[in-house]
Amino acid sequence: MKKPFDINADYQPETFEFKDKKLVDEILSRYPTYAKKSAVMPLLDVAQRQVSTEGAKAKPAYGGWIPRAAMDKIAEIIDQPPIRVYEVATFYSMYNLAPVGKYLVQVCTTTPCWLKGSSDIVKSCEDYLGIKLGETTEDQLFTMVEVECLGACVNAPMIQINDNYYEDLTPELTKELLGALKEGKEMPAGSQVGRKCSMAITGATTLKDQAKKAGGA
Ligand code: FES
Repeated sequence: MKKPFDINADYQPETFEFKDKKLVDEILSRYPTYAKKSAVMPLLDVAQRQVSTEGAKAKPAYGGWIPRAAMDKIAEIIDQPPIRVYEVATFYSMYNLAPVGKYLVQVCTTTPCWLKGSSDIVKSCEDYLGIKLGETTEDQLFTMVEVECLGACVNAPMIQINDNYYEDLTPELTKELLGALKEGKEMPAGSQVGRKCSMAITGATTLKDQAKKAGGA
């Protein structure tokens, strides 16, 4: 799904400064000086999280995204033309390049999730939130987008909301989850049907003796 990216949009701030300069320096120190352009991805993440922290205090609250000015600042820091930062930021779905709601609902619709009912999950989000994929609710609380495999296929269908994965969903559980978030409740991440990690839903089936010896279940 193509994500919005308009470097001349009205919502773009003129300037951007990193608040945690120490963190920026620490990230740069992970790479040899000649390869500091490798810091582009963690710096994009820091910029998005900084905007998210500011957004959490705003009224209405909003989520993390990366303004063009932040990408230009990163280009300056890593000594690269801005296009080198734009091309990374536009490629990965984890970077938002336009304002998003406080809760970014990323619905995985790739084959394993699709086989396990992701179309019903999309529909339950659309019905509950009253928006379509790519849209934000009027109160700015939720933005819903479609994403490719998020690597939790074994517990499909699943969605990611901000930093958390919610797995083993049904349309009913999805609506309950969105409802709880709407009321400001923290919801436990992971399997929503009590599955432990990616274990079979019926419990451990292999290596049981070894797990017992190691003090596990
Ligand atoms: S297909 Fe949905 S997490 Fe992999």
